[in-house]
Amino acid sequence: KRVAILVSGGGSNMVSLVDSMLKDADHPGQPCLVLSNNADAGGLTKAAARGVSTAVVDHRPFGKDREAFEAELVKPILEARADVVCLAGFMRVLTAGFVRQFEGRMLNIHPSLLPKYKGLHTHARALEAGDDRHGCTVHEVTPLLDDGPILGQAEVPVNPGDTPDDLAARVLVQEHRLYPAVLARYLRGERDVLHLS
Ligand code: GRF
Repeated sequence: KRVAILVSGGGSNMVSLVDSMLKDADHPGQPCLVLSNNADAGGLTKAAARGVSTAVVDHRPFGKDREAFEAELVKPILEARADVVCLAGFMRVLTAGFVRQFEGRMLNIHPSLLPKYKGLHTHARALEAGDDRHGCTVHEVTPLLDDGPILGQAEVPVNPGDTPDDLAARVLVQEHRLYPAVLARYLRGERDVLHLS
């Protein structure tokens, strides 16, 4: 299966996904594209260094016209003949129209134990709430933000004195374990929820 990965920044989750596919000859997926809305995204360099095709569609020229941006964004995904799309640190909200084109074959990783803390600043919110457990979730993307069927979760402890950055770093390590594990199972048609701790 051809896997396109969308990034906006450093792309550490993309690297974990790409490396998991490149190092396992029996993996059901192969990376066919790394696409960013940000020409300066560090993930683009990391993808090219791994021999993965890259593309950029900058969202800024389109202003508030999400549909016009997405009409361009979809082109490299179609040209790469992607079967599955993985959002990995992709920081643009996608319209229902865009999501519907990939419903049932688009995944996202979110840095919280959904359904808790949809949206941004998840680590600060977990600390604010006094949670003693936190983590990340891989889910299927549906039109509602951070809301689709959960495919996997990884938990971490919240330690006394944690700052949001401490927590983010602890969660990110688990993201890099969870996403590759979920993607391989997803591509093999497995749908039981994966729990890592
Ligand atoms: C990280 O904060 C991660 O929790 C979230 O997206 C951000 C960037 O991830 N999924 P990456 O290093 O670009 O994959």
